[in-house]
Amino acid sequence: MIVAIDGPAGAGKSTVAKSLAKRLGLHFLDTGAMYRAVTLQVLRRGLDPASGRDCAAVAGSIELDFDAQGKVLIGGVPGEPHIRSREVTGLVSAVSAHAEVRDPIVALQRALAARWGGLVAEGRDMTTVVFPDAPHRFFLNASSHERARRRALELGTPDDLERIRLEIERRDALDSSRGIAPLRVGPGVREIDTDGKDATDVLELLERLIEARAP
Ligand code: DC
Repeated sequence: MIVAIDGPAGAGKSTVAKSLAKRLGLHFLDTGAMYRAVTLQVLRRGLDPASGRDCAAVAGSIELDFDAQGKVLIGGVPGEPHIRSREVTGLVSAVSAHAEVRDPIVALQRALAARWGGLVAEGRDMTTVVFPDAPHRFFLNASSHERARRRALELGTPDDLERIRLEIERRDALDSSRGIAPLRVGPGVREIDTDGKDATDVLELLERLIEARAP
């Protein structure tokens, strides 16, 4: 079974997708981590994030895999915490906007789904491009203020709320306006507003919706 979840930065996709995967006995795929890993390697190799050719050289050759906890491995080495740095976060939207980057990464995502025999995948184009025929497709949303509040709490930096909100809104704008695989609510995708709901509420809601639509 494939469950596809999209939504903007900080909507709680990772937490919910991870718990849902555990409950359903499926693998969890954090596709943002894959684009972050490509961005990290572009920076490490001194390449230009704005150049499709530079980024393609990395995306076409990078060896990505996941450990038992669903954390990304780059050539067998953990990508955390480096893939979460401010520098990577600031450049990942630019790197992931290149078609030359998306094509091999999307192919890898589909290969992982085939290898694992199903998964809960979260990102920006899971419901629209990568798994548009998945039986269960959701778009998790929340206001940018609420998303910044959650992210600041997660990072343990409550004083940075305003900076985080601006950074989230900048990334939303870039991810939603790009030509290829933009972040959007596709036809037939069920949108869930998570403002005022905690992770357990959202998890239970998704479980109910999945159960109700089980074949
Ligand atoms: O979910 P995240 O914040 O770790 O994602 C990082 C960036 O990767 C996000 O700003 C856009 C890009 N991304 C993407 O283009 N497509 C995906 N399926 C997942 C993430």
